[in-house]
Amino acid sequence: MLWKPERAPLLEQEYQDKRHQIAQYFDKTAVKAWDRLTSNDENLNFIRESVRKGRERMQHHILERFGENLSGKSVLDAGCGTGNLAMDLVTRNANVVAVDISPSLIKIARERFSRNDQCKHDGELKFVWGDMLDPSFGDFDHIVLMDSTIHYKSANAIALVNELCKRANESIIFTFVPLTPLLAVKFALGKFFPKSERAPAVEPSSEDAICNLISQNLNGWEISGMKRVSTYFYASQAVELRRV
Ligand SMILES: C[S@@+](CC[C@H](N)C(=O)[O-])C[C@H]1O[C@@H](n2cnc3c(N)ncnc32)[C@H](O)[C@@H]1O
Repeated sequence: MLWKPERAPLLEQEYQDKRHQIAQYFDKTAVKAWDRLTSNDENLNFIRESVRKGRERMQHHILERFGENLSGKSVLDAGCGTGNLAMDLVTRNANVVAVDISPSLIKIARERFSRNDQCKHDGELKFVWGDMLDPSFGDFDHIVLMDSTIHYKSANAIALVNELCKRANESIIFTFVPLTPLLAVKFALGKFFPKSERAPAVEPSSEDAICNLISQNLNGWEISGMKRVSTYFYASQAVELRRV
């Protein structure tokens, strides 16, 4: 049974509708594409290769923020997809719970992990199907959401981060899609494609809008770092939050 957000009234209906749409997309329409994008497949077209490069740079940045040794630390990878970041975190000795709403992606992540888990580490990694907000996962030292809230409206994404703040002891890193003039043009062009062929729209936001939402909603937390990564077809900005 999927967790229902009755404890987070702000997120209720709109969140559940969007969550359903995202789950369908990542569990059915996009499973193969996402599997290839996050694998070592060398035959990606220019657009996907550009997205992959950007994502690799973002993942590298996030790992750098965590440092080399996470021994004794617990991390929630919220919206883990096929699990690449979670697998890198466990090799840094973290105890990781990696959750995703798509059972197909969780299956791929588990298979990859059982094939590739050959280096020595002290950490543990559990891949779980579910909602990232489910409080039964418990509290964590760090929570990371790499590109996991980009399909939610920014107010909902921050409400979601706010819920996770209640379960994070030290830090949260999440990303958003920065609204740039080029992106605005791409979005306008994207509207010419039939709706059925499009992924759930990403919800870009300006840095100012995100900062305002954070200062209005996340009491007891402050922004401790930001980093924008962009390639031709990927743009994402990481925000690191720490307890004040
Ligand atoms: C763009 S993908 C990013 C996946 C992964 N973080 C990565 O960077 O490879 C977004 C992921 O977030 C997951 N997701 C979105 N909303 C979720 C929710 N409420 N609970 C759990 N997973 C969610 C989706 O199923 C999808 O796998």
